[in-house]
Amino acid sequence: MKHIDIENVLQDKTLLGSTVTVCGWVRTSRESAAVTFLEVTDGTSFTRLQVVVDKSKLALDPECTKCGASIAATGVVVKAFKGEGAELNAESVRLLGKCPGDYPIQKKRTTLEFLRGIPHLRLRTNTFSAVFRVRSVAAQAIHRYFHSHRFYYVHTPLITASDCEGAGEMFRVTTQPWNAKYDSEEAYYRDDFFGRKAGLSVSGQLEGEVAAMALGRIYTFGPSFRAENSNTTRHLAEFWHVEPEIAFAELPEVMEVAEDMIKNVVRAVLEECPAEMDFFEKFVESGLKAKLQNIVESKFAVLEYTEAIELLKKADVTFQYPVDWGCDLQTEHEKYLTEHYFKKPVFVINYPKEIKSFYMKQNPDGKTVAATDLLVPGIGEIIGGSEREADPDKLLAVMKERKMDLASYQQYLDLRKFGTAPHGGFGLGFDRFVMYVTGMENIRDVVLFPRTVKNIM
Ligand code: 4AD
Ligand code: MG
Repeated sequence: MKHIDIENVLQDKTLLGSTVTVCGWVRTSRESAAVTFLEVTDGTSFTRLQVVVDKSKLALDPECTKCGASIAATGVVVKAFKGEGAELNAESVRLLGKCPGDYPIQKKRTTLEFLRGIPHLRLRTNTFSAVFRVRSVAAQAIHRYFHSHRFYYVHTPLITASDCEGAGEMFRVTTQPWNAKYDSEEAYYRDDFFGRKAGLSVSGQLEGEVAAMALGRIYTFGPSFRAENSNTTRHLAEFWHVEPEIAFAELPEVMEVAEDMIKNVVRAVLEECPAEMDFFEKFVESGLKAKLQNIVESKFAVLEYTEAIELLKKADVTFQYPVDWGCDLQTEHEKYLTEHYFKKPVFVINYPKEIKSFYMKQNPDGKTVAATDLLVPGIGEIIGGSEREADPDKLLAVMKERKMDLASYQQYLDLRKFGTAPHGGFGLGFDRFVMYVTGMENIRDVVLFPRTVKNIM
């Protein structure tokens, strides 16, 4: 259908005085004695277009005034009666699709929880359409950032035979019938599609390393899957994962890239989504814009794990989980450090080796690895990364210690055998990042169809 975007009608001053056609959904309508006003959105802009219908000139189908109806309106673009921008003096309004009264997205504000029950319609609200425009802008900004810094975009497999790092429980991929009867697990999988046990990847890192050890700098941006039984506001079974991997880099360079990328993307969102950010500031998180501005302008804090434990021990709060050197930081600990102590993003570095993955570079102290988590206020961990162990003997020793199946990691070990080099990278949970920039408090509200424990709609 020939029509133009509402965003263009609102922004492009050269359209004033010309006749255009717009298509969209009616959000509200009002009447005066002489005029009907329709507020219409087509998804291209946060602001709605006011379509003005002069009753003496145009007999409007009453269905066109119903909330949710889709219409095509043709008319002259004029300066808005109030404020900046433009409105449309309608010459014709055509009903495209009726919307009956049981449409669940009505004018009155509903709860996010209610809207989670209608994921196919909730995008039509201000909140969700704003979230998804910001999500798109942030994703584009990530690609732009890496492309302009000569990171090659690689597509790592989603179906995998190895549980990348024991990062989480893997979902199995199988075509075996449910009632298959076998004597052993091995025999069962031998008959399966791939002839061995397969699952959905929890991370593209190990394959990303393969690419980085040839292309220098790479990144992946795709879904990762984790069958963790974590029913929290920041865990999904299917989440979007940004994973750069950098050859000839040690931990400080990995952190530099992480900080620079986050700042770049936050800046892009502030610049490209001003109306959405105003909305989030007003209705979702007061102080959001200042928080993000502060991110862009200030240096992230860096804290040794060992110091983090000291701070937490001295903290004037009772934690549910006790703190001792060697423990994994819980969300409550992460939140204390980033929200109360530093009040900004914090890289925690050099974690005890026992609580981190086998591939992380072992520090000379023999106790810690060159790992980092980036913690942010309101969420906790949004990035996990490390320098990788590049020494074949050290890597092998750890894998043996952990009783890993060496045969299935032969390719990974080959990277250390043939021209090994220091390298490292990180994983950003993209959905958590979108929570952070929009202020949304539940990860279920920043993805189209969230997949979580016992929930797949
Ligand atoms: O800390 P994680 O497990 O690190 C890795 O997977 C590494 N292989 C990354 C790398 O070095 N290339 O996960 C990275 C990030 C976390 O910090 C978190 O933001 C996000 O991925 N994440 C999740 N997001 C939503 N739901 C889940 N279940 C998530 N699990 C991890
Ligand atoms: Mg982690």
